[in-house]
Amino acid sequence: MALIKLEDVSKLYGFGDATTLALDEVNLSINKNEFVAIMGPSGSGKSTLLNIMGLLDKPTHGTYKLQNRHVDRLRTAQAAKLRRDTIGFIFQSYNLLPRLTVLENVALPLAYKGIGQTRRLKYASSMLERVGMQNREYFYPSQLSGGQIQCAAIARALVNNPQIIIADEPTGNLDSAGSRLVMELLSEIHKMGNTIIFVTHNPELTRYATRVVYMHDGMIIHDEKTAVGEVAKTARDKMYSIAKKTVEDDLAGVSLLMNLVPEKDYETSKVPTKKKTKTRRRTSGGKNRKKRTR
Ligand SMILES: Nc1ncnc2c1ncn2[C@@H]1O[C@H](COP(=O)(O)OP(=O)(O)OP(=O)(O)O)[C@@H](O)[C@H]1O
Ligand SMILES: [Mg+2]
Repeated sequence: MALIKLEDVSKLYGFGDATTLALDEVNLSINKNEFVAIMGPSGSGKSTLLNIMGLLDKPTHGTYKLQNRHVDRLRTAQAAKLRRDTIGFIFQSYNLLPRLTVLENVALPLAYKGIGQTRRLKYASSMLERVGMQNREYFYPSQLSGGQIQCAAIARALVNNPQIIIADEPTGNLDSAGSRLVMELLSEIHKMGNTIIFVTHNPELTRYATRVVYMHDGMIIHDEKTAVGEVAKTARDKMYSIAKKTVEDDLAGVSLLMNLVPEKDYETSKVPTKKKTKTRRRTSGGKNRKKRTR
């Protein structure tokens, strides 16, 4: 049974001429203990997808089942409670409160549960120990490195013991050492049985994932299982294209990904592409592009 199941999920923002179709009939199932990387260009709908899976936003169309329960039409308070008990969030810009110590920041979600202060701080302290930050409890966020702040944010995300961790570009502001710290930590959490879904622009980080979902223009254009420790194949092709120097090479590299994009959207015919098969264009997502004009 899928832990997360999205069926034909679309998300529209705005009205009339200013409408944006951020998600276009996305179908996605995620099982317990998967470690899923979501990749795709800016504006392709990655954050929108995470926000819907994380119950921060609702789909305009389609259904969302979390733990086999319909959750796409929950009232705000119900969604908030389910979110608090099931999902931990980590964002790119750390979202720690600057006037609180690291310990107080980590303990904060427990206050909303009505847990007394002594127990809150004790529990937060054990979370900080778990992420290797026990000697930074009384520091303020401004006194920490980016990687350390993000580790504290992970401790805060874990404090409610959520099954699912959703992380939107958790390493986006970090150097490679900080990124490694954060990803190793997420790996540890994954090994404890949690399900982790993270967005990254860095193909290298697919090494940590068991699966990579590629998005473009609001659709899932490719979905690939991958071995932990190895860069996912499609991401590696993309990385290779980034390393290229000439414009022509760049175009050829980009076209590797473009092969997976519905043909109508791109005039790629002038760009030499290696493989262009109908079956690889789309593994999931929108079935009927006409609906985009809705
Ligand atoms: N609140 C909003 N109101 C209107 N349009 C929005 C809103 N949020 C997102 N969008 C639009 O929806 C589309 C998808 O945005 P989204 O933030 O999901 O992309 P993304 O893949 O996360 O991009 P990035 O890599 O830059 O973070 C974009 O065209 C964006 O402009
Ligand atoms: Mg985003």
